[in-house]
Amino acid sequence: MEILKQIESLKLLPVIKLDSSENAAPLAEALIAGGLPAAEVTFRTDAAEDSIKIMTQKYPEMLTGAGTITSVDQAERAMAAGASFLVTAGFNRKVTEYAVANHIPIFPGICTPTELMLLLEYQLPVAKFFPAEQYGGLKTIKALSAPFPNIKFMPTGGINATNIKEYLACDKIIACGGSWMVKDSFINNHEFEKIRSLTAEAVTLIQKEA
Ligand code: 3PG
Repeated sequence: MEILKQIESLKLLPVIKLDSSENAAPLAEALIAGGLPAAEVTFRTDAAEDSIKIMTQKYPEMLTGAGTITSVDQAERAMAAGASFLVTAGFNRKVTEYAVANHIPIFPGICTPTELMLLLEYQLPVAKFFPAEQYGGLKTIKALSAPFPNIKFMPTGGINATNIKEYLACDKIIACGGSWMVKDSFINNHEFEKIRSLTAEAVTLIQKEA
């Protein structure tokens, strides 16, 4: 699966909340200039749909997906806007079934073994483990991997420059999601140079051999 491979090679997926779609283009430029041409644009605001449209039309080289999807309607709108993958914070059967039926890569959010078993039902290879730090972080991922050795994880929630290397050293983790380089406050204050430099620092950090 191509999208999975791309996320795996980037190792870090910026989790973004845009309050205004006017910030979508400068944010995309900062991420591209920082060396991380990827975004999970969360449907936590009304600007998500337009922001995805702008990012995918103006910056087709970027890997742009939609996050925090809670309904099939949102999933359909995200895909129509150009998203190439879907992420949910928790497991939603309807959204998952829509994605599977339409061959759309989806990363359902889970944090328990019971939820993880739902991925097996739909033969999905990667779970978003969320909120990672609050639910035991790496220790929990390793424990979950024992009974479910074929599932991989994309942890997000509380991951930052101080702990990401530890997560990425685990072979069950394909990539981490994080917002520390793209905080809403930076975006709303138009601190795009700061976003570029924090992104570039993050890229240098994660590409460095352990
Ligand atoms: C997410 O939805 O993945 C999280 O909000 C990201 O968590 P973080 O803001 O702690 O990186």
